[in-house]
Amino acid sequence: MFEVNDLHSAMIHRRRAMEAVNLTPKGKKIVHPAARGPRIFADSAAIGDIRPLYEAGIINGVTTNPTLLKKAGAKSWAEAKKILTAILRLMAPNPVSLELTRTTVEEMVIQAEELRKLGPANAVIKVPIGGYTALAADKDPYTGLKVLRRLWERDIRTNATLVFNSTQAFWAANAGASYVSPFMGRLADYMYKNDQPELAPGNALYHIIDHKNSAGDQRTFNSEYVASGGARKDSGVRLIREIAAIFANFDIHTEILAASVRNPVQLTEVLLAGADILTVPANVLSTVADHPLSNEGMLSFDTDAKVFAK
Ligand code: G3P
Repeated sequence: MFEVNDLHSAMIHRRRAMEAVNLTPKGKKIVHPAARGPRIFADSAAIGDIRPLYEAGIINGVTTNPTLLKKAGAKSWAEAKKILTAILRLMAPNPVSLELTRTTVEEMVIQAEELRKLGPANAVIKVPIGGYTALAADKDPYTGLKVLRRLWERDIRTNATLVFNSTQAFWAANAGASYVSPFMGRLADYMYKNDQPELAPGNALYHIIDHKNSAGDQRTFNSEYVASGGARKDSGVRLIREIAAIFANFDIHTEILAASVRNPVQLTEVLLAGADILTVPANVLSTVADHPLSNEGMLSFDTDAKVFAK
């Protein structure tokens, strides 16, 4: 076993065992240099945003959820399915995550079959990992895990969503999820809003007040065992890092899909942390090729190049 901070060689090992993304067609002289590069998905249900990104080769997958579908204009399940069908057709054979809206195991399995049939074999069924008892106290807390296993048994690829700690990710993988979606941005947002700043990071999420390490230091103890340890601003990235370490430790091939990305800086951070896939909102994707110094350099090259127009 290795520690979270000693990730690199294990990550390389994990990466070599994963499917290549940028394939080189037969006959091409230049082999694609990033065959095992990260996948980039658009986190959107707006086909007007998705199409240009796909046609430009910027993205090779899409993730949707009920909120994004509502934002894209769907006012009924029929309209939602129409939008999802269009996205699946556009993106085929690349994966598109479609989220279940039913909340009992039997209904979810039926709905998953319905959604799978919308696309030419590229639908990935997004299953909330937990939260069922928040809907009603008598709901089955294992609903998500049961659905993930049932869909794996039916050879349906799944994306476990609403993941906020590394054990949720492990349980999802164990149930057969093809992808897990840690919501790194929401985790950080929550702590900024709800944590008491004078206490250890994550105090709004974990009841840690009484826990101390052998030296009586509560903060150190906490940072050793929860994703929210360390600096509060690093909580989302640390979550990805922990999941990557656990998956590498146990040779788990479930892909880590870093979700809820808020800005381009987080993209670098989660790539360093070991994410396999980034799902990124269109407004963040539109900024990824820019940098203030790129702008400055471009302006000066363009000025000097004027002489070559003659
Ligand atoms: O794909 C779902 C996830 O990315 C949600 O993001 O921005 O609603 O926290 P957000």
